[in-house]
Amino acid sequence: MNTEVVYLDEQALDDHMIRRAAEIIRADGTVVFPTETVYGLGANALSEKAVEAIFAAKGRPSDNPLIVHISHLDMLVYLIGEPLSDKARLLIQRFWPGPLTLIFKKSGKVPSSVTAGLDTVAVRMPDNPAALELIRASGLPIAAPSANISGKPSPTLPEHVVSDLQGRVDMILCSTKSRIGLESTVLDLSGSIPVILRPGGVTYEELAEVLGEVRIDKGLLDAHCTPKSPGMKYTHYAPDADMVIVKGSINSVQEKIQALAASKASEGLSVGVLASDETAGYYKNVNVLSLGSRKNYAVIASNVFEKLREFDIIGVDVIYAEAYDEQGMGLAVMNRMKKAAGFNMIEVQP
Ligand code: TXA
Ligand code: MG
Repeated sequence: MNTEVVYLDEQALDDHMIRRAAEIIRADGTVVFPTETVYGLGANALSEKAVEAIFAAKGRPSDNPLIVHISHLDMLVYLIGEPLSDKARLLIQRFWPGPLTLIFKKSGKVPSSVTAGLDTVAVRMPDNPAALELIRASGLPIAAPSANISGKPSPTLPEHVVSDLQGRVDMILCSTKSRIGLESTVLDLSGSIPVILRPGGVTYEELAEVLGEVRIDKGLLDAHCTPKSPGMKYTHYAPDADMVIVKGSINSVQEKIQALAASKASEGLSVGVLASDETAGYYKNVNVLSLGSRKNYAVIASNVFEKLREFDIIGVDVIYAEAYDEQGMGLAVMNRMKKAAGFNMIEVQP
């Protein structure tokens, strides 16, 4: 397949390019576009054929449902076929456009391939001018998973998308690095109490402030429970190397990682350490990448996928990653790191 690769300036959008991308969407083609979380691989959410092309391009299992992206609340009413609840209204007012995906009971208008046969649909309004203009110009809700080959870390830079999907989609709209760098929070509103199925760009604490009561799906906290969101059960975001997370006080974590790294190096293996600005200088004779300062979890979050991909390019055999507190954005950071590591975690005592 011939892929048209276009570079966009989000401050001064090229109408001609957006119209061209919208025509592709209307003709059941596939377009990769930037969002504030990660890049998305989009197609017409109301067409079975278009949605099948998404699954084919990503190599995604068909039992994993997609998020439908909208630019206007009229589209949401169409997708869910009933008026919004008070909770939904409050959340939308506070967090849309933005990194919050809401799950509702669906109307008969949503093809079953989008929702993998479930009776619910996931919807979000992205906070990115190119994404919103593309949806508006096509006049259609756009189904879009993250624009990576299934199982790989999600793409936060245009080069990630080009390396994964060139030749597999009709068009790629390239822009800057994704501002948030981790996917949206997925919140299930289909039951009586809202449940977080995937932590992401909107934190548990922010949701609790608006809703009062919010639960976190047990499957996210316990490796032995099956998560409720189909997508969360797959090994995901995985770099080529084996990955191990080390948790504990910062000094003991550093010592443990340095000892493990030295032992792997003595076996002739190439070792990567996923550190922070405060700790990176400590490690010797290993490939160290920093996620940023521990004082700013938003920055840490924005670099996770990029650094995992960098380790793939360096070609390390094993990655040791320092753990973070599971508060604020730390919950989403640790969720992605645990999945990348296949829940392989060592806890060290101080
Ligand atoms: O930030 C994001 O959400 C990005 C950008 C492109 O918008 N999209 C994204 O899509 O991360 P994807 O397909 O990689 O992840 C969608 C997640 C999966 O875990 C999927 O199982 C879950 O949402 N999901 C979708 N529909 C669902 C439903 N009806 N019930 C439960 N989980 C659902
Ligand atoms: Mg994904």
